[in-house]
Amino acid sequence: MSFTVAIDGPAAAGKGTISKAVAARFGFAHLDTGLLYRAVGAKVLAGAAPVAAARALSPVDLERDALRTPAVAQAASEIAVNAEVRAALVAFQHEFACREGGAVLDGRDIGTVICPQADVKLFVTASPETRARRRFDEMVNKGMDVAYDSVLADVRERDARDQSRAASPLVAAEDAILLDTSDLTIEAAVAQAIAAVDAVYPDAG
Ligand code: CDP
Repeated sequence: MSFTVAIDGPAAAGKGTISKAVAARFGFAHLDTGLLYRAVGAKVLAGAAPVAAARALSPVDLERDALRTPAVAQAASEIAVNAEVRAALVAFQHEFACREGGAVLDGRDIGTVICPQADVKLFVTASPETRARRRFDEMVNKGMDVAYDSVLADVRERDARDQSRAASPLVAAEDAILLDTSDLTIEAAVAQAIAAVDAVYPDAG
């Protein structure tokens, strides 16, 4: 059977960590849809045309460490306003969502546009400062040379663009469960997400 968990929210809210933990707990597959947009953004930075790059995207394009840079994140949010780019990425996300055995997808428009019928919808958020601090720590741990202020500026700029675009803007689905992680440890946030899935997943044990 298929079972879909949609996890949306702004930049660096903890969607990735929560999604991976939910997927591991229930044996679901996980798709970080931000990687699709980052992969297209990286191709555009290398000179490709956005729509052509989105149509030609293949799974190996998602496996590059270089997708996790601030420059690629910005490029991703710039191409993500393009409705034709978004349309080119829909089929892959639908197929993933409907796979046998369950799937967790995280992104910006999963519960609203990609999987409005998802079995569980979570909207994960936190204050911009908290999110920037977490992203900054993550980057420093990876050995990247970044300043907190520029990470905060990047988070704010992408949030504003993601929320204001006409095509699939970042907004919580009406039936999403809101998970504000500002004052939660990651363990507590994960526990709440797992409890939300547990409440409706038929095979939970
Ligand atoms: O990891 P982080 O939350 O910083 O970003 P991401 O999830 O990798 O997404 C990068 C950018 O892709 C976002 O700022 C969005 O503009 C775009 N995106 C989108 O429009 N729709 C999605 N479903 C996922 C990402």
